Amino acid sequence: MMNTNINLAGIKMKNPVTVASGTFGYGREFSDFFDLSKLGGIITKGTSLKPKSGNKPPRVCETASGMLNSIGLQNPGVEYFAQNDLPFLRKFDTAIIVNACGSTVEEYVELCKILNTLDIDGVELNLSCPNVKNGCMAFGNTYEGVKLVTSSVRKVLDKPLIVKLTPNVTDIVSIAKAVKDGGADGISLINTLLGMKIDIEKRKPVLANITGGLSGPAIKPVAVRMVYQVAKAIDLPILGMGGIVNGEDAIEFMLAGATAISIGAGNFTNPYTSINTISEIEDYMKKHSIEDINEIVGCV
Ligand SMILES: Cc1cc2nc3c(=O)[nH]c(=O)nc-3n(C[C@H](O)[C@H](O)[C@H](O)COP(=O)(O)O)c2cc1C
Repeated sequence: MMNTNINLAGIKMKNPVTVASGTFGYGREFSDFFDLSKLGGIITKGTSLKPKSGNKPPRVCETASGMLNSIGLQNPGVEYFAQNDLPFLRKFDTAIIVNACGSTVEEYVELCKILNTLDIDGVELNLSCPNVKNGCMAFGNTYEGVKLVTSSVRKVLDKPLIVKLTPNVTDIVSIAKAVKDGGADGISLINTLLGMKIDIEKRKPVLANITGGLSGPAIKPVAVRMVYQVAKAIDLPILGMGGIVNGEDAIEFMLAGATAISIGAGNFTNPYTSINTISEIEDYMKKHSIEDINEIVGCV
């Protein structure tokens, strides 16, 4: 018997595969394709205290081995989520982690006070969105900003707290240290890399927001490097993501130090990417006689 159960920052999952925030909505559309109970966990779309309409279109475009997005955290707000989406998600036997975003420390705190009362398994604090003018990345790219938001939220949140970091920094390890010092239980790595695409016929940026976040296989080596560096330096479990589209990619992240992984842009190219990844991880375990998936975490 192989064991694929993992414990990510106090969140128990039947396997290490989750779906990344903003690429799976609140699960409804994907439930037409497969049983969501097969997933280790679902990370919801970035959710804020009040509804947000996001940025103007066009706000997604394809790039070589990836995509750019500038959605700008469009979401219906936490109250709507609690009344409409959470009851739907709770029908499935999978961990539900809410991706929480805000523009001020107070907003993060108010939101997390509400999340603390809901039937969810944990919170992924988004300090990393490159597509909103205030908040998120503004906090996420300094030690002080990350520690301030993390420690403020920690005071009101008893549930597992994972902080999601931006790769758009010079030294990821020093930022990750602020997550530990702020009292969180885990780290998510990585959000998108800030990018830009120009339409050479129109001589204009393709995205209305001018810049956007790059995701997909193009960013995988950067993400693996950051997971590896943080895992070696900081004693906190890591949820790894960035370009994962199959079991081999997932194993690479786990060898680098991720306890669990998220699939983002890969859900758009094939809606079955996440569940295929689960069986491909099991194939790797069989091939290499691995009894417990936890054995490989951080082996490299
Ligand atoms: C369309 C889109 C929307 C996203 N929205 C969010 C979000 O709301 N909150 C967040 O923390 N990350 C968001 N992300 C980032 C992903 O969760 C993930 O960190 C990133 O895309 C890297 O993984 P990938 O290469 O597998 O897509 C979004 C990504 C995409 C492509």
